[in-house]
Amino acid sequence: MDIDMDINMDIKVTAVVAMAENLCIGKDNDLPWYIPEDLKRFKALTLGKPVIMGRKTFQSIFERIGKPLPGRANIVISRSEFSHEGVDSFTNLQNAIEHAKTIAAEQGFNEIIIGGGAQIYKQAIDLCDILQITIVHTDVDGDAFFPAIKTEEWDMTSNDNYGAIEGKHPSYSFQTLSRKV
Ligand SMILES: NC(=O)c1ccc[n+]([C@@H]2O[C@H](COP(=O)([O-])OP(=O)(O)OC[C@H]3O[C@@H](n4cnc5c(N)ncnc54)[C@H](OP(=O)(O)O)[C@@H]3O)[C@@H](O)[C@H]2O)c1
Repeated sequence: MDIDMDINMDIKVTAVVAMAENLCIGKDNDLPWYIPEDLKRFKALTLGKPVIMGRKTFQSIFERIGKPLPGRANIVISRSEFSHEGVDSFTNLQNAIEHAKTIAAEQGFNEIIIGGGAQIYKQAIDLCDILQITIVHTDVDGDAFFPAIKTEEWDMTSNDNYGAIEGKHPSYSFQTLSRKV
């Protein structure tokens, strides 16, 4: 095993996601809610680290902020000839993960981020070491869903609850799940 592979094996894979109680994460290629504290948490958890996302999630982010996620390597997977300034693109998840781990190692991080959306979470969840979840305490009628979580595989290591704001958003919880060893 060469040194690069050795380093890469120590790098954790973390999915960061906000989901409703019915596992809904999106509607019409956008988030179904606006919770500023959740966006702040996403930034705090991901800043500096490589973020892997599907082509549709990248387009959703680009439509919202007009640029790739700043301060993070944006790694986008697409089966087509996708390319975009400021983005590293790959045609499969495994190569994207290897690339993300190499960048993380070069930049001194021990973690890469799976940033969604539904298709990518579904393919990546069994490769994840940590799930950073925001549970939004409602059911949402959307079109993108997180895969069912096999609770027996995970330990909840933190769970912090926050209240609803009338007319703005429901109550929510920040949870960290770590894969059982
Ligand atoms: N709540 C949250 O935390 C959160 C986070 C992220 C996203 N979202 C939401 O999730 C929704 C988007 O999710 P989505 O499932 O529709 O799309 P997605 O997972 O973001 O992207 C899907 C695209 O990724 C590419 N892809 C998927 N698997 C691939 C593979 N194995 N190899 C190569 N390319 C692959 C394909 O791109 P091509 O079609 O170009 O081939 C596919 O169309 C949006 O509503 C978004 O707002 C929510």
